[in-house]
Amino acid sequence: MQLLNQILFGIYPYIALSVLALGSVIRFDREQYTWRSGSSQLLRRRQLVMGSVLFHVGVLTIFGGHFVGLLTPIWVFDALGVPHGAKQILAMAAGGVAGVLCLAGGLMLLHRRLFDPRIRATSSFGDTAILILLMAQLSLGLATIPVSAGHLDGHEMLKFMTWAQGVFTFRPGVAELVADVHPIFKAHLVLGMTILLVFPFTRLVHMLSAPIWYLNRRGWQLVRTKQPLPRRRVAAVPSHPGPAGAPPKPAPVQAVWPDPLKTAE
Ligand code: HEM
Repeated sequence: MQLLNQILFGIYPYIALSVLALGSVIRFDREQYTWRSGSSQLLRRRQLVMGSVLFHVGVLTIFGGHFVGLLTPIWVFDALGVPHGAKQILAMAAGGVAGVLCLAGGLMLLHRRLFDPRIRATSSFGDTAILILLMAQLSLGLATIPVSAGHLDGHEMLKFMTWAQGVFTFRPGVAELVADVHPIFKAHLVLGMTILLVFPFTRLVHMLSAPIWYLNRRGWQLVRTKQPLPRRRVAAVPSHPGPAGAPPKPAPVQAVWPDPLKTAE
């Protein structure tokens, strides 16, 4: 049992983080054309918009909360005078609300991906599998809330913070810090690390684009309206002269689409 704990919480974190870092760099270097979210917006929009907004608001709040909550040194909270119990309650409340939003949105996205035949046909195994993994992870995360409610003084949360920070500082014996926590937390930690491990092989990589490109992007985008563009009479082609004495044929009108690059402001 102790060996399993050592493998899962002392060794697996390093495997997951190494694959995450190296895998992302290699994929970016070798397969930039696949570095995208693989949008399916063209195939079915309505359910996507609602599901996507809920999912993204929730998941970004959770990622931000986990990052700050787990990796901020404990002395910073102490220096700011934030009691550990208050931080615990904030994590449960904010994480709980964000988790429910994310779960609702994610289930809409999953429903669309599984039951719309066109989206299903264009989805890879990874597209569907990562959504299922995230939904499972969310359910486990939400299931930790009643357990956390049993110790509102924040002492369990301190174990997770010390463990997460210990991983990054190569603290010896780091796995022992979480050896006695509730199994639901252990399952959540292991699945969380698994998500980091598979990250470079999924569409989740598009998350990294936001900080790298989108905020700093200078470019232009050509947007086509849904309305057909107005037809424009550009040239009257001289008609072929008819037989002698016949009235001249009207000149045919040649219609062309205006060049959107020149006309659209
Ligand atoms: C390696 C990755 C992850 C680690 C180490 C981790 C760790 C934790 C811990 C320690 C808690 C309990 C916080 C407390 O009550 O003291 C928690 C809660 C939670 N986690 Fe994660 N988690 C990870 C990834 C994720 C992911 C990917 C999601 C969702 C997409 C998620 C969703 C949640 C939710 C909804 C809660 C409950 C609300 C809260 O306490 O914030 N977690 N997580």
